[in-house]
Amino acid sequence: MQRGFNTFDLPKDIRPLHVESQEAGVRVQWSDNAHESFYPWEFINSYLKADRVESESLQVEYFGADGNSEAEQWPPSVRSKDVESNETAAIGQLTAFIRRFGFSFIKDVPYETGEATEKLLEKIAFIRHTHYGGFYDFIPDLALADTAYTNLALAAHTDTTYFSDPAGLQAFHLLSHTDDTVKDGKISLGGQSLLVDGFYAASILRDEDPKAFEILSRVKLPWHASGNEGITIAPDKLYPVLEVDEKTGALHRVRWNNDDRGVVPFDSEYSPQEWYDAARKWDAILRRKSVEYWFQLTPGSLLVFDNWRVLHGRSAFTGVRRMCGGYINRDDFMSRWRNTNYPREEILRRVVG
Ligand SMILES: [Fe+2]
Repeated sequence: MQRGFNTFDLPKDIRPLHVESQEAGVRVQWSDNAHESFYPWEFINSYLKADRVESESLQVEYFGADGNSEAEQWPPSVRSKDVESNETAAIGQLTAFIRRFGFSFIKDVPYETGEATEKLLEKIAFIRHTHYGGFYDFIPDLALADTAYTNLALAAHTDTTYFSDPAGLQAFHLLSHTDDTVKDGKISLGGQSLLVDGFYAASILRDEDPKAFEILSRVKLPWHASGNEGITIAPDKLYPVLEVDEKTGALHRVRWNNDDRGVVPFDSEYSPQEWYDAARKWDAILRRKSVEYWFQLTPGSLLVFDNWRVLHGRSAFTGVRRMCGGYINRDDFMSRWRNTNYPREEILRRVVG
């Protein structure tokens, strides 16, 4: 569009006066005799295909307890030094892994402090601030009124279900895990980490109990964060547990954290009892051994995952863990993924429409 020109200033009855097909595209002379447009064939073809942003999907590959047998390497990972030597290629690979499998590790990250982790995350996009702060580096502290700050076991959940736009990516890096009462290091400190592919779990639910899938995708619920004095966060509207793309029917986003959930509405097309029956089935699938991917976080290994798809949890642990990490917005992550994996022309074709 020509700069300084407002489409809406044109007369309402303006129409094409002369249309000429050319080798590179179509030229249109408009009836006000003042304006001319040129549409390249590439644009016209893309527009006619309607291959726009809602169909921007990648081949999503599920993972379960044993990972993904089709993957060239498991678990997916890139190296910290590769990000330094060729940032575009390494971040391209990292973000493509996250799009495809739902998560990736970055290996060999310095762990004396959280500084290297923070810098690496900023290579994806800026770190999102919330009421808890931005980049975090913490040891358990219940004063912060969130289960993440304890050493209790945590069932698989997604974070920030109480935002209109939940965090797109989440990252964890275990900087250290010590226990002064353990002398020889033979006693397990616990604290295994858990990831569950929510898209895989939802596909199982859809196969085994389509009605339960429908209920969880149609009943819209309140979500909230109000455990901290002076803070009450709730999304702009009610959201279902499973958000489905209206056009394609594909699962788009999972919201699942029972601690942040409000009251199941009584005025929905399904009763609270029906919702609870469906939620019990979903919860039972999430706890199946076959979908739980367990692993031990170790210093040097930074985990980055898609919080709209992958649920996380952990087993209880003893001792003191120092953990750092942060959130990144979904839109900024997607922008980075596009721009490190595809040529500019193709990206514009996709997002402009
Ligand atoms: Fe969490």
